[in-house]
Amino acid sequence: MAAAVRPVINSQAGWNWLVFLLFPARVIMNDERRYPLQKLSRNDLCWCGSGKKYKHCHLRLDQEQERAKRRGETVPERRVILKTPEQIAGIRESCRLTKAILDMLETRVEPDITTEQIDRWVHEMTVENGAIPAPLNYRGYPKSVCTSLNEVVCHGIPGPRVLKEGDILNIDVTSILNGYYGDSSRMFLVGEVSEAARKLVDVTYECMMLGIEQVKPGNRLGDIGHAIQRHAESRGYSVVRAFVGHGTGIHFHEPPDVHHYGQPGTGMPLAPNMVFTIEPMINAGGYAVRVLPDGWTAVTADGSLSAQWEHTILVTEEGVEILTA
Ligand code: MF3
Ligand code: CO
Ligand code: CO
Repeated sequence: MAAAVRPVINSQAGWNWLVFLLFPARVIMNDERRYPLQKLSRNDLCWCGSGKKYKHCHLRLDQEQERAKRRGETVPERRVILKTPEQIAGIRESCRLTKAILDMLETRVEPDITTEQIDRWVHEMTVENGAIPAPLNYRGYPKSVCTSLNEVVCHGIPGPRVLKEGDILNIDVTSILNGYYGDSSRMFLVGEVSEAARKLVDVTYECMMLGIEQVKPGNRLGDIGHAIQRHAESRGYSVVRAFVGHGTGIHFHEPPDVHHYGQPGTGMPLAPNMVFTIEPMINAGGYAVRVLPDGWTAVTADGSLSAQWEHTILVTEEGVEILTA
C-alpha cells in the first residue's frame, strides 16, 4: 500500500521477512540503497540521493553532526536528510509553486464542477511551470492530485463525481520542481456547508497550526502529535492513526514519520534543516479507516466526516518556517 501521508503499516515489511529468508543479501542491499550507513568517501555519491558527490553535499553537515554527537548532544539519525542550503532553496521554490496551485483553485472550486476538472487544472498549471505532479504514477496512482470528499480521509482519486452544495473537499497538491518536492493540502467548502462540517474543518486547521507551533530545535516529534491530539479530542473528534506526516523535499516521502497523536517529550528531537509535513486527518466519529477496492481511497469506517490540512515546514535555528504558506 502506498503512502501519502505515509501509512504507518508498511505492508512491504511483511514480505521483507520472506525475501530475507530466501535471499538475505537482497534485503540488506535494498535497505542500504535507501539509507546507506557505510562510511562514504569524499568522491562517492551522497547518501541523500541528490546525485552529487558526498564532498559537495552532506559531508560537512555529517561532520558537524558527528562532533555534536561526541559532545553528548542528541542528533537525528542520519537517515533523516538534514537539508543543505542549496536543497532548502530548491524545496522553497517547489513549495511556492504548490501554494500557488492551491491559490489558483480557491476561486474555481464551486458546485457543479467535477473532481476530474480539478485534476486537469492542477496538471496544467504544474507543467506550465516546468514542474511534475508528484502523485501521477506514484506507486501506480492514476491522477495528478488527490481529491478527498466528505467521509474520504485521504487519497481520493479525481473522477466524474460532481461537487454539490454542502460538500467539504480536501485537495492535496504535491509538485516536483527541479527535483524538489513541495506537499500541501487545504479544505474547500462547496457553497454553504453545515455548521458541523465547518466546525470540523476549522478545528482541523487549528490542529495543524498548533502542531506547527511546537516546531523548534530541541522539541520532539511527540510534542507535535500531542498538541494536535489534545485539541482534536477536546472537541470530541478523533485523530486518524493509519496515515502520518513525513519528511519530504528530496523524495516524496522520507523519514521520519510524523504522528498526529502522541506524548510530549517523546520521539525524535527536532533539528535545524529538517523538512517535513504536518497533515492531521481529523474525523467527526471514530479514527478507524477503510481503503476502498481501488486500493487508494481511504474512508472513515463509520462513514463520519473527515477533514485534513497539510503544510511542508522547515525547522530553523529560531523555530519554524512554513514553506507552503
Ligand atoms: N500528498 C500526499 C501526502 O500528503 C501523498 C499522495 S500519494 C498519492 O503525502 F499517490 F496518492 F498521490
Ligand atoms: Co504529505
Ligand atoms: Co500531501
